[in-house]
Amino acid sequence: KVIPVILAGGQGTRLWPMSRVARPKQFLPLTGPLSLFQKTLQRVNSSLYSAPPVVVTNAEYRFLVAEQAAEIEIAPSSILLEPVGRNTALAMAAAAAHVLQCYGDAILHVVPSDHAVEITDGYWLAVTEAIVAAEAGKLVTFGQVPTHPETAFGYIQADAKVGAGACPVQRFVEKPNMQGAIEMLSARGHFWNSGMFVLDSVDFLSECRTLAPQTFEAAQAAVAGASADLDFIRLDAPSCTGAPDISVDYAIFEKTDKAAVVAVDFPWSDLGSWDAVWKSAQRDPSGNVTQGAVTLDGVSDSLVVTDHAHVAVNGVEDIAVIATNDAVYVGRLSDAQKVGDMVQRMRADA
Ligand code: GDD
Ligand code: MG
Repeated sequence: KVIPVILAGGQGTRLWPMSRVARPKQFLPLTGPLSLFQKTLQRVNSSLYSAPPVVVTNAEYRFLVAEQAAEIEIAPSSILLEPVGRNTALAMAAAAAHVLQCYGDAILHVVPSDHAVEITDGYWLAVTEAIVAAEAGKLVTFGQVPTHPETAFGYIQADAKVGAGACPVQRFVEKPNMQGAIEMLSARGHFWNSGMFVLDSVDFLSECRTLAPQTFEAAQAAVAGASADLDFIRLDAPSCTGAPDISVDYAIFEKTDKAAVVAVDFPWSDLGSWDAVWKSAQRDPSGNVTQGAVTLDGVSDSLVVTDHAHVAVNGVEDIAVIATNDAVYVGRLSDAQKVGDMVQRMRADA
């Protein structure tokens, strides 16, 4: 059995001000008429899987999830709600415990809800190879060939090649500093962790029990104490609140010796920041990407997005202008990673 799991509880702060706590990135139509979450639902709506997806999200997003799923007529098999965000370690462990309860031992295909992925034959081949390795007890990641030093990703060192199936991970480094990212890029034999995982529910939970016991206990209790509410399943609140706030990359993948990687080269962007949105979009001959009512004069290599006001920009290059109803961001496109820190500061000031 292979069950898809969609992680849809993140806040996507680096795409401020479009991505807001009340309506984060995955629920925005960033790359076309459908939201990234809806496109994710479509990707896992395949006969490869034994059941519709399990969606894990924050309780605050339950109606966004239900409405966006209904809009494209793909019903999740269950929607698990967390009262607070405790990052992906808890979300994945809770999903694994829930799947174990509903379907028995099964393979999970865990996918983020906020990436742009182009589905190719190579994509399905990679997933199929990963399933084979997960059936043999591996915790499988997917490695993209890096194109530049990047501090927002996990790095996987392995003797892997596209088309060669799952290979053992020699080292996993989550979000290195710039120095580390540059070194790993030039050392070769390193891949970007794409954020997708294929693993067996029982094997994953037993690795959690060993490497992240508090997360394991919290997830078990969160599922055991869960309660139904309309079409949703509310995970036990005190168990979630008491769980460590840590991503699965730090909690499990940096530590486990059971990790494997399938090297892939299907078109992929995590759309993590405005420069990634710019890179993955269709650019005009001056290198500009615009959305909404925008007028440009003498502007190049820039991203101008507005959902409301008419925006006119003149005589600049490498600029991001993001205008929403109640907030505006202007900055160098090449410095777009800084938005996340600014949002933290704004929250602290508020
Ligand atoms: N349910 C739930 N609860 N989902 C969450 C939570 C949470 O508390 N936190 C994040 N998510 C979801 C996000 O919505 C996203 O779909 C996915 O889990 C990954 O979380 P991110 O916060 O976007 O992770 P990241 O981008 O910093 O890093 C991960 O992805 C990179 C590739 O994009 C890591 O796996 C890196 O190693 C990887 O390179
Ligand atoms: Mg991300």
